[in-house]
Amino acid sequence: MFTQEEIKRRVHELGLRISEDYKNKDLLLIGVLKGAYAFFADLARAVSLPLHVDFLVVARGKLVSDLTQEIAGKDLLVVEDIIDSGQTCAFLNKMLMARHPKSIQFCTLLDKHQGRKVDVPVAYTGFTLPNKYVVGYGLDYKNKYRNLPYIAVLEAVREDAP
Ligand code: IMP
Ligand code: MG
Repeated sequence: MFTQEEIKRRVHELGLRISEDYKNKDLLLIGVLKGAYAFFADLARAVSLPLHVDFLVVARGKLVSDLTQEIAGKDLLVVEDIIDSGQTCAFLNKMLMARHPKSIQFCTLLDKHQGRKVDVPVAYTGFTLPNKYVVGYGLDYKNKYRNLPYIAVLEAVREDAP
């Protein structure tokens, strides 16, 4: 669906925009694992600003591992692999807002807009997708395919796959 070249170009564009928008801010990039690991690593290196990084692990809508630092007063940019229903983002937004950051925005590589059930404020989107199940560049199907360097549609998977 998206080649290595296409992904690289788009990530670079997002990095430029973020570098512009977060000048003079106290940027903390938060990676949502595991899916966002590849995108996160490339995006962080496309941002030409001093920043901090931290990670949390979410699985099936639940927090499995938390951040390692206080976020009060910081400008958070939460980096996601893909947004479908929006439920994961909404959950993270609520949880992180309760800790009083200065600001919070979301950046997602992929957006399956048709799947949206709850509204989430996404400031940066790499690509919008039709309602297909995709793998690669961090995204998995049953924990496989994360290391594909491109993004591919996985055929023969029901729309309601995990
Ligand atoms: P949401 O909470 O419905 O927005 O779902 C987001 C999560 O579902 C993502 O963080 C992914 O882990 C997973 N997901 C949704 N669609 C796909 C897909 O096409 N491929 C791989 N994972 C997906
Ligand atoms: Mg997943």
